[in-house]
Amino acid sequence: MNNDIERVLYSQDDIKAACKRLAAEIATDYAGKKTAVHRCFKGRHFFMTDLMRELDMLTDMDFIDVSSYHGGTASTGEITLVHDVGTDIRGRDVILVEDILDSGRTLAYLQDRLMDRQPSSLKVCALLDKPEGRVVEAKADYVGFNVPNEFLVGYGLDYDEYYRNLPYVGVLKPDVYAK
Ligand code: IMP
Ligand code: MG
Repeated sequence: MNNDIERVLYSQDDIKAACKRLAAEIATDYAGKKTAVHRCFKGRHFFMTDLMRELDMLTDMDFIDVSSYHGGTASTGEITLVHDVGTDIRGRDVILVEDILDSGRTLAYLQDRLMDRQPSSLKVCALLDKPEGRVVEAKADYVGFNVPNEFLVGYGLDYDEYYRNLPYVGVLKPDVYAK
């Protein structure tokens, strides 16, 4: 699996440092509040659990899951809700945790779904942001790294459901797509 990687963009240590930095920013901004943290399954799983363990504040967790990519390296633009939140977030301060912002469609969709439930605030924390990929307006309040417009894998990000378990974020060798 590691042989399929052209280069490593962010090592485990880089990611750990980013989680610490983001958790500190969040804890400062939400001082004295109890926060609900939401994440999506799969890709966001790795970032969510590492971020949460760095977060020194009272938070509970819930999950919302969408499917936005249907294989390949390009977004289809079609988003399906696979799992909805299970707790009442009306009047709560909610943080949505994302792995990567690309076209922005997934985030825009998730924000709409969550805002329907009338939280008192909704902020977004994304490990990776690919601003050049943006098709619809979408912005994260907390960003780990701005990344180039390349297809990335690892640390939860997949290519056709594989490579999520790489402990770092890297770029796939182009010949992998050709297989
Ligand atoms: P968006 O809706 O185009 O912003 O895409 C967001 C979702 O697409 C992310 O949550 C990922 O699941 C997936 N995605 C976007 N860019 C990449 C990438 O470079 N590698 C793997 N998955 C990606
Ligand atoms: Mg994917």
